Amino acid sequence: MTPSRLQDLLGIEIPIVQAPMAGAQASALAIAVSTAGGLGSLPCALLALDAIRDELAAVRAQTTRPYNVNFFCHTPPTPDPAREAAWRATLAPYYRELGLDPNEIPAGPTRSPFSDEAADIVEEFRPPVVSFHFGLPSPELLARVRAWGSVILASATTVDEARWLEARGVDAIIAQGLEAGGHRGNFLTADMTTQLGTFALVPQVIAAVRAPVIAAGGIADARGVSAALRLGAAGAQLGTTYLLCPEVTTSPVYRAALRSTDAGHTALTNLISGRPARGIVNRLMRQLGPMSDLPPEFPLATPAVAPLRAAAEAKEMGDFSPLWAGQNTSGCKEIPAAELTRELAVDLE
Ligand SMILES: Cc1cc2nc3c(=O)[nH]c(=O)nc-3n(C[C@H](O)[C@H](O)[C@H](O)COP(=O)(O)O)c2cc1C
Repeated sequence: MTPSRLQDLLGIEIPIVQAPMAGAQASALAIAVSTAGGLGSLPCALLALDAIRDELAAVRAQTTRPYNVNFFCHTPPTPDPAREAAWRATLAPYYRELGLDPNEIPAGPTRSPFSDEAADIVEEFRPPVVSFHFGLPSPELLARVRAWGSVILASATTVDEARWLEARGVDAIIAQGLEAGGHRGNFLTADMTTQLGTFALVPQVIAAVRAPVIAAGGIADARGVSAALRLGAAGAQLGTTYLLCPEVTTSPVYRAALRSTDAGHTALTNLISGRPARGIVNRLMRQLGPMSDLPPEFPLATPAVAPLRAAAEAKEMGDFSPLWAGQNTSGCKEIPAAELTRELAVDLE
Protein backbone atom coordinates (compact mmCIF):
# COMPACT_ATOMS: atom_id res chain seq x y z
CA MET A 1 0.00 0.00 0.00
CA THR A 2 1.26 3.47 -0.81
CA PRO A 3 1.58 5.64 2.33
CA SER A 4 -0.72 8.63 2.15
CA ARG A 5 1.99 11.22 2.65
CA LEU A 6 5.61 11.59 1.72
CA GLN A 7 6.33 12.15 5.40
CA ASP A 8 5.04 8.64 6.17
CA LEU A 9 6.96 7.02 3.32
CA LEU A 10 10.26 8.69 4.23
CA GLY A 11 9.81 9.09 7.99
CA ILE A 12 10.35 12.86 7.84
CA GLU A 13 8.45 15.72 9.46
CA ILE A 14 8.26 18.18 6.58
CA PRO A 15 7.88 17.24 2.91
CA ILE A 16 11.07 18.95 1.79
CA VAL A 17 13.94 17.06 0.18
CA GLN A 18 17.30 18.80 -0.03
CA ALA A 19 18.49 17.96 -3.53
CA PRO A 20 21.73 16.01 -3.66
CA MET A 21 24.31 18.30 -5.26
CA ALA A 22 27.49 16.51 -6.30
CA GLY A 23 30.50 18.79 -6.17
CA ALA A 24 28.69 21.36 -4.05
CA GLN A 25 28.17 19.58 -0.73
CA ALA A 26 29.05 16.64 1.46
CA SER A 27 27.50 15.35 4.67
CA ALA A 28 27.25 18.66 6.56
CA LEU A 29 24.34 19.95 4.46
CA ALA A 30 22.52 16.62 4.60
CA ILE A 31 22.90 16.42 8.38
CA ALA A 32 21.59 19.97 8.85
CA VAL A 33 18.48 19.43 6.70
CA SER A 34 17.68 16.01 8.15
CA THR A 35 18.08 17.35 11.68
CA ALA A 36 15.63 20.16 10.81
CA GLY A 37 13.00 17.59 9.83
CA GLY A 38 13.43 17.50 6.04
CA LEU A 39 15.26 14.85 4.04
CA GLY A 40 18.96 15.67 3.72
CA SER A 41 20.79 14.09 0.79
CA LEU A 42 24.36 12.92 0.33
CA PRO A 43 25.48 12.99 -3.33
CA CYS A 44 28.01 10.24 -4.13
CA ALA A 45 28.56 10.70 -7.88
CA LEU A 46 31.93 12.40 -7.42
CA LEU A 47 33.10 10.51 -4.33
CA ALA A 48 35.69 7.74 -4.23
CA LEU A 49 34.57 4.61 -2.37
CA ASP A 50 36.45 5.50 0.83
CA ALA A 51 34.92 8.96 0.83
CA ILE A 52 31.44 7.47 0.48
CA ARG A 53 32.08 5.41 3.63
CA ASP A 54 33.51 8.42 5.54
CA GLU A 55 30.59 10.69 4.62
CA LEU A 56 28.01 8.03 5.45
CA ALA A 57 29.71 7.45 8.80
CA ALA A 58 29.55 11.20 9.47
CA VAL A 59 25.84 11.31 8.69
CA ARG A 60 25.09 8.33 10.89
CA ALA A 61 27.15 9.77 13.75
CA GLN A 62 25.45 13.15 13.65
CA THR A 63 21.78 12.51 13.05
CA THR A 64 19.28 9.83 13.92
CA ARG A 65 16.83 11.20 11.35
CA PRO A 66 16.22 9.72 7.89
CA TYR A 67 18.62 10.74 5.11
CA ASN A 68 19.08 10.02 1.41
CA VAL A 69 22.13 8.73 -0.45
CA ASN A 70 22.27 9.61 -4.15
CA PHE A 71 24.00 8.02 -7.14
CA PHE A 72 24.21 8.52 -10.88
CA CYS A 73 23.19 5.57 -13.09
CA HIS A 74 24.64 6.44 -16.49
CA THR A 75 26.09 3.77 -18.75
CA PRO A 76 29.85 4.43 -18.86
CA PRO A 77 30.76 5.48 -22.40
CA THR A 78 33.18 3.71 -24.67
CA PRO A 79 36.23 5.99 -24.81
CA ASP A 80 36.59 7.66 -28.18
CA PRO A 81 40.21 8.91 -28.42
CA ALA A 82 39.61 10.75 -31.70
CA ARG A 83 36.68 12.66 -30.31
CA GLU A 84 38.53 13.45 -27.09
CA ALA A 85 41.51 14.71 -29.11
CA ALA A 86 39.18 16.88 -31.19
CA TRP A 87 37.67 18.27 -27.97
CA ARG A 88 41.13 19.19 -26.69
CA ALA A 89 41.93 20.80 -30.03
CA THR A 90 38.80 22.91 -29.67
CA LEU A 91 39.99 24.02 -26.24
CA ALA A 92 43.59 24.60 -27.40
CA PRO A 93 43.34 28.41 -27.57
CA TYR A 94 42.25 28.44 -23.94
CA TYR A 95 45.14 26.17 -22.89
CA ARG A 96 47.52 28.59 -24.61
CA GLU A 97 45.93 31.61 -22.97
CA LEU A 98 46.24 30.07 -19.50
CA GLY A 99 49.73 28.66 -20.09
CA LEU A 100 48.66 25.00 -19.87
CA ASP A 101 50.26 22.07 -21.68
CA PRO A 102 47.53 20.08 -23.47
CA ASN A 103 49.77 16.98 -23.37
CA GLU A 104 49.74 16.95 -19.58
CA ILE A 105 46.01 16.55 -19.17
CA PRO A 106 45.05 13.25 -17.55
CA ALA A 107 42.31 11.30 -19.36
CA GLY A 108 39.60 9.14 -17.84
CA PRO A 109 36.11 9.40 -16.48
CA THR A 110 35.49 11.47 -13.42
CA ARG A 111 32.08 10.23 -12.37
CA SER A 112 31.25 6.60 -11.74
CA PRO A 113 27.75 5.12 -11.82
CA PHE A 114 26.33 3.12 -8.91
CA SER A 115 28.19 -0.19 -8.79
CA ASP A 116 28.49 -3.40 -6.79
CA GLU A 117 31.48 -1.91 -4.98
CA ALA A 118 29.49 1.19 -3.99
CA ALA A 119 26.57 -1.02 -2.95
CA ASP A 120 28.88 -3.02 -0.66
CA ILE A 121 29.67 0.18 1.24
CA VAL A 122 26.13 1.55 1.27
CA GLU A 123 24.84 -1.78 2.54
CA GLU A 124 26.97 -1.35 5.68
CA PHE A 125 24.79 1.65 6.51
CA ARG A 126 21.41 0.57 5.09
CA PRO A 127 20.37 4.22 4.60
CA PRO A 128 16.67 4.98 4.95
CA VAL A 129 16.50 6.39 1.40
CA VAL A 130 18.53 5.93 -1.79
CA SER A 131 17.92 8.10 -4.88
CA PHE A 132 19.06 7.71 -8.47
CA HIS A 133 19.65 10.17 -11.32
CA PHE A 134 19.90 9.18 -15.03
CA GLY A 135 17.57 6.19 -14.67
CA LEU A 136 18.16 3.17 -12.44
CA PRO A 137 20.98 0.70 -11.86
CA SER A 138 20.72 -2.88 -13.19
CA PRO A 139 17.73 -4.91 -11.90
CA GLU A 140 20.13 -6.98 -9.74
CA LEU A 141 21.66 -3.90 -8.12
CA LEU A 142 18.26 -2.30 -7.63
CA ALA A 143 17.03 -5.52 -5.98
CA ARG A 144 19.97 -5.37 -3.57
CA VAL A 145 19.04 -1.84 -2.49
CA ARG A 146 15.43 -2.85 -2.05
CA ALA A 147 16.40 -5.98 -0.10
CA TRP A 148 18.31 -4.09 2.54
CA GLY A 149 15.25 -1.88 3.06
CA SER A 150 15.98 1.57 1.59
CA VAL A 151 13.09 3.56 0.12
CA ILE A 152 13.98 4.20 -3.52
CA LEU A 153 13.55 7.56 -5.28
CA ALA A 154 14.51 8.44 -8.86
CA SER A 155 14.33 11.46 -11.15
CA ALA A 156 12.01 11.65 -14.16
CA THR A 157 12.08 14.49 -16.68
CA THR A 158 9.17 13.28 -18.84
CA VAL A 159 5.91 11.41 -18.29
CA ASP A 160 7.40 8.38 -20.10
CA GLU A 161 10.35 8.29 -17.71
CA ALA A 162 8.01 8.50 -14.71
CA ARG A 163 5.99 5.53 -16.01
CA TRP A 164 9.21 3.59 -16.68
CA LEU A 165 10.43 4.19 -13.13
CA GLU A 166 7.10 3.24 -11.60
CA ALA A 167 7.04 0.01 -13.60
CA ARG A 168 10.35 -0.88 -11.95
CA GLY A 169 9.02 -0.32 -8.45
CA VAL A 170 10.43 3.10 -7.55
CA ASP A 171 8.71 4.27 -4.34
CA ALA A 172 8.47 7.98 -5.19
CA ILE A 173 9.26 9.90 -8.35
CA ILE A 174 11.14 13.18 -8.47
CA ALA A 175 9.65 15.18 -11.36
CA GLN A 176 12.55 17.37 -12.46
CA GLY A 177 11.36 20.40 -14.39
CA LEU A 178 13.47 22.22 -16.94
CA GLU A 179 14.14 25.08 -14.51
CA ALA A 180 16.25 22.79 -12.30
CA GLY A 181 19.93 23.45 -11.63
CA GLY A 182 22.59 20.83 -12.32
CA HIS A 183 22.37 17.83 -14.61
CA ARG A 184 19.13 16.95 -16.30
CA GLY A 185 18.16 13.47 -15.17
CA ASN A 186 16.81 12.46 -18.59
CA PHE A 187 17.54 8.86 -19.52
CA LEU A 188 15.00 7.66 -22.09
CA THR A 189 15.64 10.56 -24.43
CA ALA A 190 18.46 12.97 -25.18
CA ASP A 191 16.11 15.33 -27.02
CA MET A 192 15.96 18.50 -24.94
CA THR A 193 12.73 19.60 -26.65
CA THR A 194 10.94 16.88 -24.65
CA GLN A 195 11.85 18.53 -21.34
CA LEU A 196 9.00 20.35 -19.61
CA GLY A 197 8.92 23.11 -17.02
CA THR A 198 8.00 22.10 -13.48
CA PHE A 199 4.46 23.52 -13.62
CA ALA A 200 3.72 21.56 -16.80
CA LEU A 201 5.54 18.37 -15.82
CA VAL A 202 4.36 17.78 -12.24
CA PRO A 203 0.57 17.51 -12.83
CA GLN A 204 1.09 15.33 -15.90
CA VAL A 205 3.36 12.96 -13.99
CA ILE A 206 0.88 12.86 -11.09
CA ALA A 207 -1.86 11.89 -13.55
CA ALA A 208 0.29 9.14 -15.04
CA VAL A 209 1.60 7.32 -11.94
CA ARG A 210 0.29 6.14 -8.57
CA ALA A 211 3.57 6.69 -6.71
CA PRO A 212 4.01 9.95 -4.78
CA VAL A 213 5.58 12.70 -6.90
CA ILE A 214 8.20 15.13 -5.59
CA ALA A 215 8.39 18.39 -7.54
CA ALA A 216 11.85 19.73 -8.40
CA GLY A 217 13.09 22.70 -10.38
CA GLY A 218 12.78 26.42 -9.72
CA ILE A 219 11.24 26.09 -6.26
CA ALA A 220 12.91 28.76 -4.16
CA ASP A 221 10.83 29.68 -1.14
CA ALA A 222 7.88 28.77 1.08
CA ARG A 223 5.38 30.00 -1.52
CA GLY A 224 6.99 27.75 -4.12
CA VAL A 225 6.85 24.74 -1.81
CA SER A 226 3.15 25.42 -1.12
CA ALA A 227 2.46 25.86 -4.83
CA ALA A 228 4.07 22.49 -5.60
CA LEU A 229 1.88 20.82 -2.98
CA ARG A 230 -1.22 22.61 -4.32
CA LEU A 231 -0.35 21.19 -7.74
CA GLY A 232 -0.64 17.76 -6.16
CA ALA A 233 3.00 17.01 -5.44
CA ALA A 234 3.68 15.03 -2.28
CA GLY A 235 6.79 17.09 -1.59
CA ALA A 236 9.37 19.45 -3.04
CA GLN A 237 13.05 18.89 -3.78
CA LEU A 238 15.17 22.03 -3.69
CA GLY A 239 18.81 22.38 -4.65
CA THR A 240 19.75 25.86 -5.80
CA THR A 241 18.09 27.52 -2.81
CA TYR A 242 20.61 25.87 -0.46
CA LEU A 243 23.69 26.92 -2.45
CA LEU A 244 24.70 29.89 -0.27
CA CYS A 245 24.24 28.10 3.05
CA PRO A 246 27.45 27.84 5.10
CA GLU A 247 27.30 24.00 4.96
CA VAL A 248 27.81 24.07 1.17
CA THR A 249 31.34 23.47 -0.15
CA THR A 250 31.30 25.66 -3.26
CA SER A 251 34.30 27.73 -4.36
CA PRO A 252 34.53 31.51 -3.81
CA VAL A 253 34.08 31.99 -7.58
CA TYR A 254 30.83 30.01 -7.55
CA ARG A 255 29.51 31.85 -4.51
CA ALA A 256 30.34 35.20 -6.08
CA ALA A 257 28.44 34.23 -9.25
CA LEU A 258 25.42 33.17 -7.19
CA ARG A 259 25.42 36.49 -5.36
CA SER A 260 25.79 38.57 -8.53
CA THR A 261 23.23 39.58 -11.13
CA ASP A 262 24.80 36.91 -13.41
CA ALA A 263 22.79 34.36 -11.43
CA GLY A 264 19.68 35.53 -13.27
CA HIS A 265 20.96 34.06 -16.54
CA THR A 266 21.30 30.30 -16.65
CA ALA A 267 21.31 27.87 -19.58
CA LEU A 268 21.63 24.17 -20.29
CA THR A 269 25.14 23.25 -21.35
CA ASN A 270 26.87 19.97 -22.21
CA LEU A 271 30.31 21.58 -22.47
CA ILE A 272 31.46 20.78 -18.96
CA SER A 273 30.56 17.09 -18.65
CA GLY A 274 29.09 15.92 -21.96
CA ARG A 275 25.50 15.87 -20.65
CA PRO A 276 23.09 18.81 -20.42
CA ALA A 277 23.21 20.58 -17.07
CA ARG A 278 21.88 23.99 -16.06
CA GLY A 279 24.33 26.57 -14.83
CA ILE A 280 25.02 30.28 -14.73
CA VAL A 281 26.19 31.35 -18.20
CA ASN A 282 29.97 31.80 -18.29
CA ARG A 283 32.59 32.46 -20.94
CA LEU A 284 32.92 28.83 -22.11
CA MET A 285 29.14 28.56 -22.56
CA ARG A 286 28.94 31.89 -24.39
CA GLN A 287 31.83 31.15 -26.74
CA LEU A 288 31.34 27.44 -27.56
CA GLY A 289 27.70 26.71 -26.78
CA PRO A 290 25.90 26.58 -24.49
CA MET A 291 25.00 23.24 -26.21
CA SER A 292 27.41 21.74 -28.72
CA ASP A 293 28.16 18.58 -30.72
CA LEU A 294 31.85 18.87 -29.84
CA PRO A 295 32.26 17.45 -26.33
CA PRO A 296 32.71 13.69 -25.93
CA GLU A 297 30.09 11.64 -24.14
CA PHE A 298 29.39 12.10 -20.43
CA PRO A 299 31.54 12.21 -18.37
CA LEU A 300 34.48 12.22 -20.79
CA ALA A 301 34.24 15.94 -21.55
CA THR A 302 35.29 16.86 -18.01
CA PRO A 303 39.02 15.98 -17.86
CA ALA A 304 39.85 18.38 -20.70
CA VAL A 305 37.98 21.27 -19.06
CA ALA A 306 39.15 20.61 -15.48
CA PRO A 307 42.64 22.19 -15.78
CA LEU A 308 41.14 25.27 -17.44
CA ARG A 309 38.70 25.54 -14.60
CA ALA A 310 41.46 25.25 -11.99
CA ALA A 311 43.70 27.80 -13.70
CA ALA A 312 40.87 30.31 -14.13
CA GLU A 313 39.58 29.84 -10.58
CA ALA A 314 43.09 30.56 -9.28
CA LYS A 315 42.62 33.97 -10.92
CA GLU A 316 39.14 34.25 -9.37
CA MET A 317 37.38 33.67 -12.69
CA GLY A 318 34.57 31.20 -13.29
CA ASP A 319 35.08 31.16 -17.08
CA PHE A 320 35.31 27.34 -17.22
CA SER A 321 33.60 26.37 -13.97
CA PRO A 322 30.40 24.40 -13.58
CA LEU A 323 28.34 27.16 -11.95
CA TRP A 324 25.33 24.87 -11.62
CA ALA A 325 22.18 26.73 -10.64
CA GLY A 326 18.51 26.63 -11.48
CA GLN A 327 16.47 29.39 -13.04
CA ASN A 328 15.33 30.70 -9.67
CA THR A 329 18.17 31.81 -7.41
CA SER A 330 15.97 34.30 -5.55
CA GLY A 331 15.74 32.06 -2.49
CA CYS A 332 19.48 31.63 -1.90
CA LYS A 333 20.33 32.91 1.57
CA GLU A 334 23.54 32.90 3.57
CA ILE A 335 21.88 31.32 6.59
CA PRO A 336 22.28 27.87 8.16
CA ALA A 337 20.53 25.16 6.18
CA ALA A 338 18.39 24.11 9.15
CA GLU A 339 17.03 27.65 9.44
CA LEU A 340 16.40 27.80 5.69
CA THR A 341 14.58 24.48 5.80
CA ARG A 342 12.30 25.72 8.58
CA GLU A 343 11.62 28.93 6.59
CA LEU A 344 10.69 26.86 3.53
CA ALA A 345 8.13 24.99 5.59
CA VAL A 346 6.39 27.97 7.24
CA ASP A 347 3.35 27.90 4.95
CA LEU A 348 2.74 24.19 5.50
CA GLU A 349 0.29 22.93 8.08
C1 LIG B 1 24.86 22.24 -7.87
C2 LIG B 1 23.90 21.16 -8.23
C3 LIG B 1 24.34 19.83 -8.27
C4 LIG B 1 23.42 18.80 -8.52
N1 LIG B 1 23.88 17.51 -8.44
C5 LIG B 1 22.96 16.49 -8.46
C6 LIG B 1 23.35 15.17 -8.09
O1 LIG B 1 24.50 14.88 -7.79
N2 LIG B 1 22.39 14.20 -8.11
C7 LIG B 1 21.08 14.48 -8.41
O2 LIG B 1 20.24 13.57 -8.38
N3 LIG B 1 20.69 15.72 -8.75
C8 LIG B 1 21.59 16.73 -8.77
N4 LIG B 1 21.18 18.02 -9.03
C9 LIG B 1 19.79 18.27 -9.44
C10 LIG B 1 18.85 18.31 -8.25
O3 LIG B 1 18.57 16.98 -7.82
C11 LIG B 1 17.48 18.96 -8.53
O4 LIG B 1 16.87 18.38 -9.64
C12 LIG B 1 17.55 20.46 -8.72
O5 LIG B 1 18.44 21.06 -7.82
C13 LIG B 1 16.18 21.07 -8.53
O6 LIG B 1 16.11 22.34 -9.07
P1 LIG B 1 16.58 23.69 -8.30
O7 LIG B 1 18.06 23.65 -8.35
O8 LIG B 1 15.98 24.77 -9.11
O9 LIG B 1 16.07 23.61 -6.89
C14 LIG B 1 22.06 19.09 -8.79
C15 LIG B 1 21.64 20.42 -8.77
C16 LIG B 1 22.52 21.45 -8.48
C17 LIG B 1 22.00 22.86 -8.42
